[in-house]
Amino acid sequence: MENNQNLNQRVAMITGAASGIGKAVACIMADQPYRLCLIDFNEQELHTLQAQLQDKTEIIAMCGDVTDASFIHTAINEIEKKFGRLDYVLNNAGMTSAAKSIVDLEFEEWHRVMNVNVHSIYYCLHYQIPLMLKTGGGSIVNTSSMLGLIGTKKRAAYVASKHAVTGLTKAAALDYAAENIRVNSVHPGYIETPLIAHIDSEMLAAKHPVGRLGTAEEVAALVKFLWSDEAKFITGSQYVIDGGYSIQ
Ligand SMILES: NC(=O)c1ccc[n+]([C@@H]2O[C@H](COP(=O)([O-])OP(=O)(O)OC[C@H]3O[C@@H](n4cnc5c(N)ncnc54)[C@H](O)[C@@H]3O)[C@@H](O)[C@H]2O)c1
Repeated sequence: MENNQNLNQRVAMITGAASGIGKAVACIMADQPYRLCLIDFNEQELHTLQAQLQDKTEIIAMCGDVTDASFIHTAINEIEKKFGRLDYVLNNAGMTSAAKSIVDLEFEEWHRVMNVNVHSIYYCLHYQIPLMLKTGGGSIVNTSSMLGLIGTKKRAAYVASKHAVTGLTKAAALDYAAENIRVNSVHPGYIETPLIAHIDSEMLAAKHPVGRLGTAEEVAALVKFLWSDEAKFITGSQYVIDGGYSIQ
């Protein structure tokens, strides 16, 4: 049986929590400490992170695929059963697509990217929002990309998916603004994580006016701000964190 202090302690859900940006957010939030629900389909990395953080705070780690709506429903039910509330969300699990022009891009690849980057966030919002409303609201951050605001060559599926995240964020923000749920998106430039490990990092760094890649911890600090009460007048906004890449 949890004591009252635990029942009032804030709860955060992070998808794509086992690596990169999601992991950095989990690590700074465990120090707050928020109770955490960590979601990822990389079971080994997820449980390593859980073991690393579980002395700091209470954690539910759920291994599954965010493109499976029934898995997301189960995860939200588990959060309600174990923690009784949901205050903060980072909908962050995502994938890149192969570098191909539109004619060469296979339908299967298009649908895979849309499923992981867009449909999963819709499923998450659909099940997260009713639980948030039960305790008076919360703050949701969706991970888009600078490519959710500008285009680039040979990344049609990724660019379209991240623009959809931007639009979904605005729509959700308007639907629930009056009910004290804020929904914002973050738009990173290239961030040093396993997602871009296959790309030449010096070449990528040179494309950023600041001359380097971003770090997952820098994006995590932005998410922490958007979750906080300091950001309570901010909703439906797009926060670019790209070392100046997209203003060139
Ligand atoms: N790294 C960058 O340069 C960059 C730039 C802009 C936006 N982003 C976005 O940031 C988000 C996080 O990326 P990252 O760089 O931390 O990548 P990452 O590969 O380090 O982490 C992504 C995590 O998501 C998990 N994941 C992927 N698909 C999943 C699925 N279907 N179900 C459950 N878990 C799944 C992976 O297992 C992994 O742990 C993504 O949405 C990505 O598009 C990254």
